[in-house]
Amino acid sequence: MQTLQEASAYIREQINSYTPDFGIVLGTGLGALVQDLQIAYSLNYSDIPHFPVSTVESHSGKLIFGELGGRKVVVMQGRFHYYEGYSMEQVVFPIRVMKLLGVQKLFVSNAAGGLDPEFNTSELMVITDHINLQPTNPLIGKNLDELGPRFPDMSEPYDEQMIEQALEISSQHGLNVRTGVYASVPGPMLETKAEYHYIRIIGADAVGMSTVPEVIAAVHMNLPVFAVSVITDLCVPGKIKKVVLKDILDAAAKAEPNMTLLIKELIKRQ
Ligand code: HPA
Repeated sequence: MQTLQEASAYIREQINSYTPDFGIVLGTGLGALVQDLQIAYSLNYSDIPHFPVSTVESHSGKLIFGELGGRKVVVMQGRFHYYEGYSMEQVVFPIRVMKLLGVQKLFVSNAAGGLDPEFNTSELMVITDHINLQPTNPLIGKNLDELGPRFPDMSEPYDEQMIEQALEISSQHGLNVRTGVYASVPGPMLETKAEYHYIRIIGADAVGMSTVPEVIAAVHMNLPVFAVSVITDLCVPGKIKKVVLKDILDAAAKAEPNMTLLIKELIKRQ
């Protein structure tokens, strides 16, 4: 708790008590939302006490404060993954700091492989539920009672009202948005064909290497979450190709404008 308090006290000092209403986590290849932001403050992760520092080149490590759709937000440009070698506690550290800074809702994006045979690359999937296939989770260990209960409910990790609003916005703007279950795997290797098959059978529509730890930490703190996947590759028999990071980034970049529009419009409605 002390490290969280020190980090948030440092940030508060830097941003002159600018209080963000919403937190946003941007996934692989999805950093361009920041261009739509009227930036008030931008802090490097490396300057914030106890903050982990990103090791993946495709993620730039900045905490950006500003206005999006007329509302005050804090954006994590670059997130932390378990596969980078961080503990789960480190992975969710920024989410907990956001809560201490006063955010009331959390918006999360990621790049994911599509398991539903109907999906195409660069489509958006609003996450309605998840399956945690990571080897651990951020709530293991002594409970931080100041943040939330020992046994948090997980029957509705994604805010139903925001899901409905997102679908309304999508039909208004002609966005072809899917809904589905996201499975979170540790990575960093992608899946074998047998693993994709398995993950599909157990009930997932998309698979990726992030998001679920952050969502668990948010739900623990009673912070409503909206999350969306950008489908960057297809993991369906007959459609599975060798995945290279560039293809994932290209597919994410193509979907970026739609994702930004969706999150911006959703934020306006909160
Ligand atoms: N598997 C896991 N993570 C991913 C994938 C995938 O196919 N695509 C993007 N992130």
